[in-house]
Amino acid sequence: MTFIGLALGTLLLLSMASLASSCNEQEKASLLQFLTGLSQDNGLTALWKNDIDCCKWEGVSCSGDGAVVEVSLASRGLQGCISPSLGDLSNLQSLNLSCNSFTGSLPSELLTSSSIVVLDVSFNQLSRVLQPQESNSSVTNNRPLQVLNISNNLFTGEFPSAVWEKTSSLVVLNASNNQFRGLIPSSFCISSLSFAVLDLTHNKFNGSIPTGLGKCSALRLLKAGYNSLSGPLPDELFNASSLEYLSFPNNGLQGVIDGARIINLKNLCHLDLGNNMLIGKIPDSIGQLKRLQELRLSRNNMSGELPSALSNCTDLVTVNLKMNKFSGELNNFNFSNLINLKILDLLGNNFTGTISESIYSCSNLTALRLSSNNLHGQLSPRIGELKSLAFLSLSFNNFTNITNALRILKNSSTLTTLIIGNNFKGEAMPEDETIAGFQNLQFLSISNCSLSGKIPLWLSKLKKLQVLLLSTNHLTGSIPAWIKNLESLTTLDISDNRLTGGIPAALMDMKMLKSNMTATHVDTSLFELPVYIAPSLQYRTLPAIPKGLFLGNNKLTGTIPKEIGHLKSLAKLNLSFNCLSGEIPQQLCSLKNLQVLDLSSNHLTGEIPLALNKLSFLAKFNISNNDLEGVIPTGGQFDTFPNSSFEGNPKLRAIMVNPLYGSVEASAVPSLSMEQADRRITFVFGFCAFFGVGFLYDQLVLSKFYG
Ligand SMILES: *[C@@H]1O[C@H](CO)[C@@H](O)[C@H](O)[C@H]1NC(C)=O
Ligand SMILES: *[C@@H]1O[C@H](CO)[C@@H](O)[C@H](O)[C@H]1NC(C)=O
Ligand SMILES: *[C@@H]1O[C@H](CO)[C@@H](O)[C@H](O)[C@H]1NC(C)=O
Ligand SMILES: *[C@@H]1O[C@H](CO)[C@@H](O)[C@H](O)[C@H]1NC(C)=O
Ligand SMILES: *[C@@H]1O[C@H](CO)[C@@H](O)[C@H](O)[C@H]1NC(C)=O
Ligand SMILES: *[C@@H]1O[C@H](CO)[C@@H](O)[C@H](O)[C@H]1NC(C)=O
Ligand SMILES: *[C@@H]1O[C@H](CO)[C@@H](O)[C@H](O)[C@H]1NC(C)=O
Ligand SMILES: *[C@@H]1O[C@H](CO)[C@@H](O)[C@H](O)[C@H]1NC(C)=O
Ligand SMILES: *[C@@H]1O[C@H](CO)[C@@H](O)[C@H](O)[C@H]1NC(C)=O
Ligand SMILES: *[C@@H]1O[C@H](CO)[C@@H](O)[C@H](O)[C@H]1NC(C)=O
Ligand SMILES: *[C@@H]1O[C@H](CO)[C@@H](O)[C@H](O)[C@H]1NC(C)=O
Ligand SMILES: *[C@@H]1O[C@H](CO)[C@@H](O)[C@H](O)[C@H]1NC(C)=O
Repeated sequence: MTFIGLALGTLLLLSMASLASSCNEQEKASLLQFLTGLSQDNGLTALWKNDIDCCKWEGVSCSGDGAVVEVSLASRGLQGCISPSLGDLSNLQSLNLSCNSFTGSLPSELLTSSSIVVLDVSFNQLSRVLQPQESNSSVTNNRPLQVLNISNNLFTGEFPSAVWEKTSSLVVLNASNNQFRGLIPSSFCISSLSFAVLDLTHNKFNGSIPTGLGKCSALRLLKAGYNSLSGPLPDELFNASSLEYLSFPNNGLQGVIDGARIINLKNLCHLDLGNNMLIGKIPDSIGQLKRLQELRLSRNNMSGELPSALSNCTDLVTVNLKMNKFSGELNNFNFSNLINLKILDLLGNNFTGTISESIYSCSNLTALRLSSNNLHGQLSPRIGELKSLAFLSLSFNNFTNITNALRILKNSSTLTTLIIGNNFKGEAMPEDETIAGFQNLQFLSISNCSLSGKIPLWLSKLKKLQVLLLSTNHLTGSIPAWIKNLESLTTLDISDNRLTGGIPAALMDMKMLKSNMTATHVDTSLFELPVYIAPSLQYRTLPAIPKGLFLGNNKLTGTIPKEIGHLKSLAKLNLSFNCLSGEIPQQLCSLKNLQVLDLSSNHLTGEIPLALNKLSFLAKFNISNNDLEGVIPTGGQFDTFPNSSFEGNPKLRAIMVNPLYGSVEASAVPSLSMEQADRRITFVFGFCAFFGVGFLYDQLVLSKFYG
């Protein structure tokens, strides 16, 4: 019995020894030293027991002869500082401490280690500038470090280029998401011939792009977006002919894209220079970049036509040229070779003519945005050939025949977002039953078309519709009771029409506005392209759009239903510029999510419900120009609203706490005397005229890029 046990034990030991001999005491001591640097070890100390072979410790791996070669403690909830003692592990090749909460500095011993090949300290809170204490003689000139990931930390100051002069093996450096300043470092390539990946995105680098980067003959990826770089793309940069990924969005780069140079980058797949100050044309030579998949030049000052050579880039998947000054007949460009194209965004340019028929050959197209250009014509039935189309935005052009457009588009079962407002000026809203369809539509905007007619019945079939925007048309009739059939609807904007009648009870019964839940089938995925509801309001998902009812600027009569209190998740309510009468219902005070409440310019009477001051998210409140009386509530958000929120209610009084007596006095809101009243009439008149102009101006200028 004992004998067998002993024999087994020996066998076991022998077999283990052949796999890995146990770690040596010195290395164990270095690892234990690392523990002493931790202020929160999250149970690691308990696992790293002194009497156990350290090669068996969690996160530690050894080589066959018992030398520690890998320490892998990512996402362990560790806090404290990184002990320089890890630098004593003379065979350590890979150290991964990413996704913890380490603070302080990254010890230079790790950077200058003569064994570490992969060092990943990303996603921590390291802050100290990397400053290795170079010893002049002893340290090897041949550091093996190949991969260094210091991204997502709090490093500041200039990038210490000196560090890299001896890193002759470096292949990957990821320093993104820090706060490095000064010039972009470029000395890596002088020391390392194999340097291939440099990611400096989201820092504070400034100055121009260093010409030294051109010496990086192996550089495949260069990303330095979201910095403060200026100046042109230097000629030398295009000597880095291995580049596949070149990305400098959101900087202040100037100048042109040099057609003679860019063709050096034959391997280029991704070019992102969006949101800079580039001018000039897209060079014809771009057609020679046969591997180009992504072309992003949005938000620059570029002009000219789409070069026909671009149609030779048949691998293109994404083309984003929005908000430039590109022009010319869109029809002149032949899209038919771009069979891989999925996203085409030309928003906010000056393309003219009609939509190229050739675009319908791009059968993989999922998102097409042509809004805010100068296009005209009727929609082609061939758009039905785009079997993957999910996002279509054509707003702010001069397309005609909305009946035709809707009859064609209704058959698309992939379409989820349709934005076609600011076209079809003065046409009639099609009301025929044949428009039914749009089985997966979630977002529909037909604003600013001056359409006549009623809110059409075919809309009632769109069970997945979440956002319906029909503002600034000439729609008449009443708000239909079938509106509550739109059981996914979270946002309804029918403001600025000619709607009459009362606010229907059905509207107080909207499923998604009553519950704080999102519908079960609600799509939380990203829009194929961000949607601009207002110039500065960009939405990437549907649920991000605040739930709201916008009924302002119509001819609605009657009272505000008490049942409004059911719409618990409402964030924005605008009933302004109607003919509503009666009191402000107390039930409004239970809409705890309300951020905007505008009841101005109606005929509301009675007092302001005092409990409105309990609405802690209320940021905008307007009840001006009604016939309210009593006192203005105080406390809560009410202390932040300007006088203009209340003016034009002659019987309304403000309460002021008299600091001397601690008593409460009521005083009228600065109101108009008889003499002033005369002027007021003139003012109102003037105001209306001004408002009209102001409103138009808004629509034209501010909303130029809605889409
Ligand atoms: C470090 O570990 C994390 C988490 O396991 C992993 O995502 C990351 O790729 C690792 N780093 C390297 C350089 O392998
Ligand atoms: C390295 O050399 C410089 C001058 O060459 C000297 O000032 C410095 O003290 C030396 N550093 C070490 C650590 O020996
Ligand atoms: C850090 O960067 C390296 C090289 O790009 C990568 O392999 C690793 O996955 C990154 N680490 C994390 C946590 O993303
Ligand atoms: C750099 O790291 C960030 C995360 O910190 C990651 O998102 C990015 O993809 C990395 N860059 C490269 C080139 O791997
Ligand atoms: C870069 O920023 C620093 C301040 O951080 C400033 O002193 C320097 O002039 C800037 N350089 C350029 C070229 O803008
Ligand atoms: C790098 O680019 C510069 C300017 O474009 C050019 O004069 C030089 O010859 C190039 N160097 C190499 C090695 O190709
Ligand atoms: C596309 O490439 C072919 C051959 O590579 C060339 O003959 C043709 O002129 C190019 N087309 C355009 C429009 O540049
Ligand atoms: C747009 O193009 C048309 C016709 O080419 C031109 O008349 C107009 O001035 C351009 N508009 C802008 C804003 O560049
Ligand atoms: C494009 O669509 C076709 C079918 O129409 C499909 O076979 C192909 O894989 C798609 N290509 C891409 C890049 O998605
Ligand atoms: C829009 O098209 C109509 C009819 O084609 C035309 O009369 C009108 O002038 C165009 N409007 C603009 C702004 O181009
Ligand atoms: C508008 O489209 C409809 C349906 O396609 C068509 O019957 C009608 O003739 C078109 N109207 C005009 C003015 O082209
Ligand atoms: C929804 O409301 C219920 C009750 O008012 C609350 O318990 C729950 O946390 C809310 N859910 C969300 C997602 O806000």
